[in-house]
Amino acid sequence: MSARFSVQALKLLTEVDRRILTAVERGMINHEYVPAELVASIAKLDLELVEKRLKRLNKLGLVQRSAGGARGYVLTSRGYDCLAFYVLARRGVLEALSQSPVGEGKESEVYLGVTPGGRLVAVKVHRVGRTSFRGTKRVRVYVADKRHTSWLYQSRLAARSEFEALSILWKAGVAVPEPLDWNRHVVVTGYVEGVELSEVPELEDPRGVLDRVLAEVEKAFKAGVVHGDLSEYNVLVTEGEGVVLIDWPQWFSSAHPQAELYLRRDVENVASFFRRKYGVEVNPRGLAEEFLRRVRG
Ligand SMILES: Nc1ncnc2c1ncn2[C@@H]1O[C@H](COP(=O)(O)OP(=O)(O)O)[C@@H](O)[C@H]1O
Ligand SMILES: [Mg+2]
Repeated sequence: MSARFSVQALKLLTEVDRRILTAVERGMINHEYVPAELVASIAKLDLELVEKRLKRLNKLGLVQRSAGGARGYVLTSRGYDCLAFYVLARRGVLEALSQSPVGEGKESEVYLGVTPGGRLVAVKVHRVGRTSFRGTKRVRVYVADKRHTSWLYQSRLAARSEFEALSILWKAGVAVPEPLDWNRHVVVTGYVEGVELSEVPELEDPRGVLDRVLAEVEKAFKAGVVHGDLSEYNVLVTEGEGVVLIDWPQWFSSAHPQAELYLRRDVENVASFFRRKYGVEVNPRGLAEEFLRRVRG
């Protein structure tokens, strides 16, 4: 919903509006609410114009004006979406977005998008720490510890981390969506025609699918990446019962001291699902042990 709104709002924005939004974003680094004067000075625009435009951006829901006390503005998540979509559109990665999400998780929304060349893409908007940000009750916020902007930083960090993992994995030939670009809290990847493993009604060859997942997990580990949150929700099953592993922002390096712990948990999670749902005769613990012994080489 919010992303749909942002794309519509994008069409109403001028270059001046985008400069103002970017200036608010910049001002938020050290201001809880960014005064219009500071916005004007960062954007190198006339104060009167900036004040007029900020009022309109406030009505569009792209910035939010302080309720009282210190006068100023902050970006809303819609405003942040706008900045990211604008950059991705300008870079020729994104031309349009679906009206509603095709996937919605705890900390993200995934939209179907299309590039100017007509390629379908998945547009993942990370929303980490959003709930606390949305709370209207005013908690004391200390500018020094950046809590007032943590949703913005955390969401951007998640996007960067996911894009980094996907880049390593894609190069290593692991079955993941192709990473195309990212900006701020948004990651764009190739769109995968598939169904979440948790939603697949039946499989012809469950054991084969489990083995395919494990083969990808092994390749990923050898490329230096452990998923860390692998489950039936983060595996897409494609035509012909192929698999694609998704959702990587929380990944760990294979060199991380806890890497084996997470790897074991990933393998056990997936194996348990196949035993539970498809009666595949497998001992998840034993399988994980054997798997670890093998990848340790
Ligand atoms: N590249 C993609 N192609 C097609 N669908 C996707 C793609 N990435 C994500 N999805 C859909 O969006 C859902 C949520 O994506 P995911 O990356 O798992 O984020 P999260 O679980 O953190 O919200 C997935 O379960 C899937 O249905
Ligand atoms: Mg997921």
